[in-house]
Amino acid sequence: MKVVFLAPSYPPEMRQYTRGLSEVGAQVYGVGDAPAATFPPDFKRYFSDYLQVPRIMDEDDVIARVTDWLRGREVDRVVANWEPLVVLAARLRERFGLPGMSVDTVLGFRDKQLMKQRVAAAGLRVPRAARVRTVSEARAAAERIGYPLILKPIAGAGSADTHKVESAAQLEQALRQMLHIGEASCEEFIEGDEFTFDTVSIDGQPAFMNVASYLPKPLVARTNEWVSPVVITVRDMAQPALQAGIELGRKVLYALGMGDGFTHMEWFRKPDGEAVFGEIGCRPGGAHLVDQMNYTCDIDLFREWARVSCWKSFESSAERKYNVAIVFKRALGQGTVTRIEGLEEYLRRFGAHVVEERLLRPGTPRRNWKQTLVSDGYILVRHPEWEAAKQMAFAAATDVRLIAA
Ligand SMILES: Nc1ncnc2c1ncn2[C@@H]1O[C@H](COP(=O)(O)OP(=O)(O)O)[C@@H](O)[C@H]1O
Ligand SMILES: [Mg+2]
Repeated sequence: MKVVFLAPSYPPEMRQYTRGLSEVGAQVYGVGDAPAATFPPDFKRYFSDYLQVPRIMDEDDVIARVTDWLRGREVDRVVANWEPLVVLAARLRERFGLPGMSVDTVLGFRDKQLMKQRVAAAGLRVPRAARVRTVSEARAAAERIGYPLILKPIAGAGSADTHKVESAAQLEQALRQMLHIGEASCEEFIEGDEFTFDTVSIDGQPAFMNVASYLPKPLVARTNEWVSPVVITVRDMAQPALQAGIELGRKVLYALGMGDGFTHMEWFRKPDGEAVFGEIGCRPGGAHLVDQMNYTCDIDLFREWARVSCWKSFESSAERKYNVAIVFKRALGQGTVTRIEGLEEYLRRFGAHVVEERLLRPGTPRRNWKQTLVSDGYILVRHPEWEAAKQMAFAAATDVRLIAA
């Protein structure tokens, strides 16, 4: 089993998938823009070969170089777990005639308008939406859709350039801030709670499923710096309140022609209980969501994803033991973190339930909270009872403070 894995060392968690591939017996052919010379020996040993390319995002160039590099060698899979590379992986598969999702299928997971059209065509509930390329198209769409609405890039990430618009005046304001965006989705604003639906799937059938609750919704978290965003995996997936979302998620996978691998969907639960599709990617969720899922079940999804990708087999128990909460912190003040307040007391109270504490230490420059949800670090806590996990997460949100100056 020879597997070409795109961007095997970046973002950092990709190293775990590289390890997983190697552990399930694959020969890993890495392609990335990082120089292999920078890889530590215990990472290098996972590779059978590695091709450094000058620009991993330059699809035509990468395809030409990989074709040259592999000449005379057969490979069995081309896979990627990083959103900007999923289409490139599909193009390479088509080029080499390998199994896996086609470019057309993958585009359904990448283009926010196309995905909504395909999901809606299957009779599933999506926000009313239109693709808009110009200011006048946006005005016309807003007229049809009504306020409040959401204006966001067609291929966005991390809520960047996403605006909630409540009036015609706000629309003009948002449009002025979006002039650098080529294509946007203008859509009905869905009121309600927001969740994920994550899977590791085999031929579009979930071998593993997860739901996580966003507290608050990602757009609110990205708009207000003072918020310590919390995301909690839900231990009890059998609870009635989640069934509509889980059923929606399964049907979305079918409607979009999912193959093997990770999916990360977001959905809304309206006050009347209706589940509404948000978006989906054919790759894992970021910001440590895979770590959270691993801590939920005490499993290794990095390796099980690899097993699924190579052998269409998932071998871990999916018994859910914990609700796992992650709390992202943003320091008060700009510049460099100077101190952490309340952490000792927090660990005295809840230390037994803390599985990771990765807050930036004094002396470290702050991260850009708009660019990375991880912000200035995080605390991961878990508990079998939902309320206990939530309370511990909220306590970390309010009682632990990073100060910067
Ligand atoms: N139609 C909508 N109704 C309500 N909120 C939305 C809608 N679309 C997006 N949002 C908010 O904006 C966030 C970012 O949008 P999303 O489509 O998930 O893009 P991204 O790829 O940036 O995550 C969502 O998590 C949600 O909080
Ligand atoms: Mg999203």
